Amino acid sequence: LKADIFLPSCSPDHKLRQIRAAGANLHVVDGPFAEAASRCADFVAANDALLVHPFEDPAVIAGQGTLGLEILEQSPDVTKVIVAVGGGGLAAGIVIALDGGAEVIAVEPKACPSLAEALRAGMPVAAPVGGIAADSLGAPVIGEVAFSVLAPSVRHAVTLSEKAILDAQQQLWQEFRLAVEPAAACSWAVLESTEVSFAADDCIVVVICGGNVNPQEMAAWASS
Ligand SMILES: Cc1ncc(COP(=O)(O)O)c(C=O)c1O
Repeated sequence: LKADIFLPSCSPDHKLRQIRAAGANLHVVDGPFAEAASRCADFVAANDALLVHPFEDPAVIAGQGTLGLEILEQSPDVTKVIVAVGGGGLAAGIVIALDGGAEVIAVEPKACPSLAEALRAGMPVAAPVGGIAADSLGAPVIGEVAFSVLAPSVRHAVTLSEKAILDAQQQLWQEFRLAVEPAAACSWAVLESTEVSFAADDCIVVVICGGNVNPQEMAAWASS
């Protein structure tokens, strides 16, 4: 893989190791996601490189939308899809693919509320970045393209405490033997949230993606 990848220093070691193992040049930037994005922009300008933004790119959003198409193919009766939001590209792609055929429930950690803050302000605004899922969901501001797709269709972003995320992560392991990272457990946590109510005839799809789980955490679960 010929690529230069810029990540913030909060990224977990196992994620960095996997990227290096794939052969990419990894640049770990001191500071949050915004700092890594800015160093990446400098690199792109200096090297005339192709920028692949993690969420603010219609082509990336279209690619993520294929997940929505797969949902429709495998669960044509779907009524609700629960998906975690960082910069919003994944949720936006799914909204476009579902084309109003099912409701998208967006979820994010209370510690990284980029969509909740943007919905409150009526436009993308800087949001706090922190907590256990920041390395995946810690976009400092929701993407402009994603917000333009999400704002009309997602009335509300469910926000989760750190404990709710950890509980969901544990439950996915204990009950289903799914080893997922905190960001990926967020969507599952919505099922326990009092912020959302479901109807008896709802057909719910929970998007659980992201396996960058810390091996030490896994070892602790295995012995619990
Ligand atoms: C596990 C997981 N879920 C959801 C997302 C959300 O992606 P987006 O930034 O497109 O909202 C990410 C982003 O990295 C992720 O790692």
